[in-house]
Amino acid sequence: MRAIRTVIENIADTDATVLIRGESGVGKDLVARAIHAASARRGGPFVKVNCAAIPPGLLESELFGHEKGAFTGAHRRKPGQFEYANKGTIYLDEIAELPLALQAKLLHVLQDFRFARVGGNALVDVDTRVIAATNRDLELAMTRGEFREDLYYRLNVVEIHIPPLRERKEEIPLLAAWFLSRFNEQYGRSKQLSPETMARLMEHSWSGNVRELENVIRRLVVLTDGEQAFEALVARDRNGRAAASRPAPFATESLREIARHGARQAERKALGEVLEQVQWNRAEASRILRVSYKTLLNKISECELTPPSRRRF
Ligand SMILES: Nc1ncnc2c1ncn2[C@@H]1O[C@H](COP(=O)(O)OP(=O)(O)OP(=O)(O)O)[C@@H](O)[C@H]1O
Ligand SMILES: [Mg+2]
Repeated sequence: MRAIRTVIENIADTDATVLIRGESGVGKDLVARAIHAASARRGGPFVKVNCAAIPPGLLESELFGHEKGAFTGAHRRKPGQFEYANKGTIYLDEIAELPLALQAKLLHVLQDFRFARVGGNALVDVDTRVIAATNRDLELAMTRGEFREDLYYRLNVVEIHIPPLRERKEEIPLLAAWFLSRFNEQYGRSKQLSPETMARLMEHSWSGNVRELENVIRRLVVLTDGEQAFEALVARDRNGRAAASRPAPFATESLREIARHGARQAERKALGEVLEQVQWNRAEASRILRVSYKTLLNKISECELTPPSRRRF
């Protein structure tokens, strides 16, 4: 990451287009924001567009805006994200998901930073820096005809490859210490990492990269049985499921029922643990478990969990 930091500092003040590559969770968003923050554009907007999250049919209008009457439902002119990114940076995440027709339009926009909104002829000029990111194999996508070679070369003025965490294990202690102090402060704890846990962290394969490490440390901080939680996580990583929650194989149950049964048990256990830890603060629990508040309430009632106060009286 130190080498990447140097690249960021060297290119920040150029307007060079940057292509950030790396597996999911390695820190691509973080690097994109760091480039913007180090550049002369830092006072301007940083606009992120996730090309995979927007239905392909809406993506052109999302990026470039549309004129009134461009299509059914276009009641008024709407600027696109490129216009919002004027004087700033536009970050095109998951660029490999861009449909081919839009790849062609983007290529033209990158040549003169001028385009027409959907359904219009008037040309709009923008002054923005483009950063793109992907976790896909773009070379393979090109050989399959799914990604335009000319766009690839246009985007790839500077390429930053962020290696997976398993290839830079020397960063684990630093990252772990950083997340530990952050979560200790956030949750009002003072957890420490035992040498055994640290050794486990170094051994683990981290297929989810830094995001996975962040989540593991969060769980270590939040759960009383933090160390056990880590064991369970490692076990799940090895077997593709949580060893602790494996259901007893009832001969009378179909495979599907066994799976459903096991999943429900595991869910109930995790839900119960987290709720105890946060003293049944449901909003907090929904954040930790990364489900909506409503989903959490449904799960609580499905699992028939009750808060301690109601259990006592
Ligand atoms: N070097 C780092 N120091 C501190 N936190 C980091 C570092 N790298 C990544 N993170 C954290 O890890 C998480 C994942 O990072 P980020 O969202 O940037 O990954 P990504 O490569 O964009 O993933 P995806 O491909 O899934 O979008 C974030 O919470 C981020 O803050
Ligand atoms: Mg990302």
